[in-house]
Amino acid sequence: MFETRAAHLRHTVTNVFDPQHASEADWERVLAYWRQRIAEDQPGEPMLSDADTRHNVLQPSPLYDMHRMLAVNAQGEFIGSLNASFRREGTPDHAAFAPFIDAWGGVLQAHRRRGVASTLLQGLLALMEAHGKSVATIGAHLPEGHAFLQAIGAVEKHRTVENRMAFAGLDWPMLARWRSEGFAPAHGLHAEVHVGRVPLERLAALMAPLSVLLNDAPTTQLERPPMRFDLEGFGPWYADMDQRGGDHFLVLLLNGAEVAAVCDASWSPRFPDRMHQRLTAVARGWRGKGLAKGVKAAMLQLVRERHPQVALAVTHNAEVNAPMLAINRRLGFAPHRHDGQYQIGIESLRAFVSTRTLASQQETQEERP
Ligand SMILES: CC(C)(COP(=O)(O)OP(=O)(O)OC[C@H]1O[C@@H](n2cnc3c(N)ncnc32)[C@H](O)[C@@H]1OP(=O)(O)O)[C@@H](O)C(=O)NCCC(=O)NCCS
Repeated sequence: MFETRAAHLRHTVTNVFDPQHASEADWERVLAYWRQRIAEDQPGEPMLSDADTRHNVLQPSPLYDMHRMLAVNAQGEFIGSLNASFRREGTPDHAAFAPFIDAWGGVLQAHRRRGVASTLLQGLLALMEAHGKSVATIGAHLPEGHAFLQAIGAVEKHRTVENRMAFAGLDWPMLARWRSEGFAPAHGLHAEVHVGRVPLERLAALMAPLSVLLNDAPTTQLERPPMRFDLEGFGPWYADMDQRGGDHFLVLLLNGAEVAAVCDASWSPRFPDRMHQRLTAVARGWRGKGLAKGVKAAMLQLVRERHPQVALAVTHNAEVNAPMLAINRRLGFAPHRHDGQYQIGIESLRAFVSTRTLASQQETQEERP
């Protein structure tokens, strides 16, 4: 039966999903909801099994506090969700992160344009008020996501592109040239390569220099804390790889102790045909010498040796990062999906939520005989 927008909204409530305490019945329903969202919004993408999704959701998150909200309709169905995360108090550099919250979510296709996402924003606002957050960062890749974020008064600050490359098209002789030019003794650099894991002690020593390189990557107009690597963030990932398999690859070119160039990547047995390219960066003083091409070529060779079945490389780049995009294009990467990162301040969010609440109350009154 067709429901009016106001009736739909009156019956839609927001519940918190707490993975640690959820009942089996709620797990089943939430897993089915997540599967449907992926099928609708990312058709064709391989999906994790429910057991793997559940395992991932239950993984500890030492650096970030995570809140999950679900929109539930009158029939008790999960029809929309909003997740939000922010840096935990007491973690390194917490003060710089304190104003910021990240949020993402969506609504099942059959329930869109009925105010469900707007209702979920009340939950985001309450969370921001409770934790003293002033800026929310929200991403969108589908046209309706962009339209929604513009409608609520969020401002697009940055664009990224997910690039993908088929290994089948790789020009291995060109890669061999790139590697030998980048690793040429004339640069006076020495290489350090880790396959599978980086020893934790070494990883700890690299956190500061790699954070400097990471922080130099362009993020256009985003208001943000300094980007950083923290050893605490690697702990759960490494523990999980020890338990269930997976690899972290790292290629460095070093000038003494200084990191001149870095490339790291990951592989998971859950998606054995693909590798994820993580950070590639060259220190400012070392740019323009072919080092980025050298470390990227070395990485692709390493991954092919270790996992010959890998057929696809996936990477995310800022749309303004011309040098990285040019190298990736020459390798054969092509855009798979574009993402916009929007930000909204708490005052604008409050203004949107209050007009929507007022509008739905008015609609409800008009409905009454
Ligand atoms: C974006 C999304 C969450 C919106 O959910 P929703 O419940 O349909 O949103 P609402 O009904 O609360 O819409 C609020 C306002 O946003 C705007 N809006 C939402 N979807 C729109 C669309 N497809 N086209 C144009 N405007 C749109 C409208 O102004 C709407 O108000 P109106 O219906 O009174 O005109 C949903 O389309 C979705 O799940 N998309 C895929 C996931 C995604 O992109 N997530 C990231 C964005 S947070």
